[in-house]
Amino acid sequence: MTTSVRDLEERGFGATLRRDRWWIGPALTALVLGSFAIYATWAAWTGINYEWGPYLSPFYSPYIKTSWWPLSPAFLILVFPLGFRSTCYYYRKAYYRAFFLDPVACSVGEPRHHYNGETRFPFILQNVHRFFMYAAIIFIFILAYDVFRAIRWPVNGMSGGVMAPGPRHLGIGVGTLMMVLNVILLSCYTFGCHSLRHLIGGGIDCYSCVRAGRTRFQVWRGVTVLNKHHMLWAWCSLFLVALTDVYIRLCAMGVIHDVRVF
Ligand code: FES
Repeated sequence: MTTSVRDLEERGFGATLRRDRWWIGPALTALVLGSFAIYATWAAWTGINYEWGPYLSPFYSPYIKTSWWPLSPAFLILVFPLGFRSTCYYYRKAYYRAFFLDPVACSVGEPRHHYNGETRFPFILQNVHRFFMYAAIIFIFILAYDVFRAIRWPVNGMSGGVMAPGPRHLGIGVGTLMMVLNVILLSCYTFGCHSLRHLIGGGIDCYSCVRAGRTRFQVWRGVTVLNKHHMLWAWCSLFLVALTDVYIRLCAMGVIHDVRVF
């Protein structure tokens, strides 16, 4: 049985013939995204406990110390990853359903029946996604550099989470492993971006007819593999970026002790 646009227009908000628990998906999305937004805002607002030893929270990377900015430096940083996520094609679907209820689910009555797409303000701004994608790629390299720093431990030890000056030696702690996993998941999410896939593979009908076509095709195939699971990478990377911040924060507060692998 199919549902026409007219059917939906005649239905009131939430009316549906569906018998499954269609509301679980949007409700879970609202819960998780809402919780992340609250935590990220709080973590950014505090401006403290974002580093411990060689670890730096991804919310505060790159490390910025300014005198001209009155608020936490995290607000200068987070505008880029949050802009990237909030304009992501997958997240748009997720939060349009969860927060705007528009549409809340397939074949379920909507609160309004006029659809202008993303052709007018403010939703036309979603088209800046590609530019946030460029920034997100740069952030992958910045976070990878943080991992490099997180394997260099002070030979002279630490005091209160502050590294003693002097030479460094190679070491890995649980925090290092979390930072590595964070970069991997963020890379899977970022390099599976729909915009990136279009940038590489869009606008051509024949790879072998263009310069470096073979390389371009191989790169497009790699992006496509990641793109197939874009939703999975979106949630896993969101979860781990928050978890990495929580871990480093708890270490900095002295609530937990980092475990050194070697
Ligand atoms: Fe999701 Fe670009 S479409 S990150």
